[in-house]
Amino acid sequence: MLHPNVSRLLNEQITKELYSAYLYLDFSVYYEAEGLDGFANWYMIQAQEERDHAMLFLKYLQQNGEKVTLGAVDAPDKELKSLMDPLKAGLEHERYVTSLINDIYAAAYAEKDFRTMQFLDWFVKEQLEEEKNADDMIKKMELFGGDSKGLYSLDNEYAARIYTAPSLVL
Ligand code: FEO
Repeated sequence: MLHPNVSRLLNEQITKELYSAYLYLDFSVYYEAEGLDGFANWYMIQAQEERDHAMLFLKYLQQNGEKVTLGAVDAPDKELKSLMDPLKAGLEHERYVTSLINDIYAAAYAEKDFRTMQFLDWFVKEQLEEEKNADDMIKKMELFGGDSKGLYSLDNEYAARIYTAPSLVL
């Protein structure tokens, strides 16, 4: 049995990850409407990954015999007025998610819950990748996005992203 504090935070993280999926779906819709299918594809796949993250938290709770409580998922609330806006909002959001993972880790550490810490290790590493990807996209947009050929080439690059299931299996 997990400590109630750890269990509560893990439960809340399911909803937060689903919000991430919803947010990236919104980004995908925005880029699709702007005619940038590649960017739309990248965020559609990102939304799938976030759903996977939510499922990992859900399964971990179930495996530990914990009650799963699904909360309400907020509507995406980022203002998207330029091609750069989703990218910047994405980095800001991933930094926030990193802080959430760290909070759960700290709660698990406080309770000597080494099992949950080991489970979270995958997410700690994943967040490094998530922040790096988001930061790289901003840098590339700054470098190449101002020019139509550069933007076309970036869009083609993001069109090539394919979905891969998470390496963590529960
Ligand atoms: Fe589930 Fe993008 O972190």
